[in-house]
Amino acid sequence: MSNDEQSAPYSGVAQHDAASAPAARRPARIRTHHLQRFKDEGQRFAMLTAYDAMMAQVFDETGIEVLLVGDSAANVMQGSASTLGITVDELLVYAKSVVNGAKRALVVADLPFGSYQATPAQAVHTAVRFMKEAGVQAVKMEAHAGLAPHVKAVVDAGIPVMAHAGFTPQSEHQLGGFRVQGRGEHAQQVIADARALEEAGAFCLLVEMIPAELAAQLEQEVRIPTIGIGAGSATTGQVLVWQDMLGLNNGRLPRFVKQYADLRGTITEAVQAFRCEVQKGTFPTDEHTF
Ligand code: KIV
Repeated sequence: MSNDEQSAPYSGVAQHDAASAPAARRPARIRTHHLQRFKDEGQRFAMLTAYDAMMAQVFDETGIEVLLVGDSAANVMQGSASTLGITVDELLVYAKSVVNGAKRALVVADLPFGSYQATPAQAVHTAVRFMKEAGVQAVKMEAHAGLAPHVKAVVDAGIPVMAHAGFTPQSEHQLGGFRVQGRGEHAQQVIADARALEEAGAFCLLVEMIPAELAAQLEQEVRIPTIGIGAGSATTGQVLVWQDMLGLNNGRLPRFVKQYADLRGTITEAVQAFRCEVQKGTFPTDEHTF
C-alpha cells in the first residue's frame, strides 16, 4: 500500500487549517478517491486555478486540494475576452509548469475548445497529451449528455475526467452569453446531463453559474462530489480563478467572486517604490552591490 493510500484525507479542511493539519493525516498526494472520500465523510475541499510553477507552489503549500489549469488562462494570462482561442500546445505549457510546482495537490487540466468535441478518439488523443506531455493527473471537459461518449472514452483510456456542466464558457455563443443556466424547467436538462456524465465515469462534477437550489439537488442526485463556482454553498468543493480571488484582476468580476486580498494594490505600491528609488538613486545601496 502506498503512502497516500494509507493516510486519510485530513479533516476540517477549512483553508486556514489545512497547512497545519498533522502531517501523518495528510495524503502525500491528493488523488481522485480522496475527493470522493471528502464527500462521503461530509468534508469540503477547495480548488484554485493555477498557470505557473510558483503560484502552484504557493497554493500547494497552503494545502489547497486541487489545482486547475483552466482554459481561463486565455483570459487571465493572455488577455483574451473568451476562452475559445487557447490551443492545446499553449495550455500544455501552463499545465507542465503547474505540475512542476505542485507536490501534493491534484492537478487537473482543461481540454481546450475544439480539442475533444469532434469524436471520442479526438478526446482520448488530447487527454493523453496532457497526461504524457504535462504530467497532469486528470483532465476537465465541458460537457453535456451528448458528449458522454467522449467522456467515457477518456475514462476508458485510464484518464480521470472532471466533467463541467451548467454554464460552460466554451459554449458561450450557443448559450447566449454569460448567463445562469438551469433556471425553471431547464433544471431537468442540467440534472440529465449530470446523471449522464456520472454514468460515463466522471470522478467529479463541476457546476458553474446555476441556482444554489439546483446545485444542492445535484449534490444529492449524483454520488460523485460536485464543485461549484457561482452555484451556492451546498457543493462538496468550491473553485475560483486565483487572479479574481486575490484581487489581481481589476476587470468587472462576476457576483460569485469573493476577493480575499488586494494583490493589485500591493504590487502597484511595491513597483512604485522601486521606480521611485531608482529615480532618486537610493536603490541599489551597498547592501545590494558587489
Ligand atoms: O477555466 C477555468 O478556470 C474554469 C473555472 C472557471 C472553473 O473552468
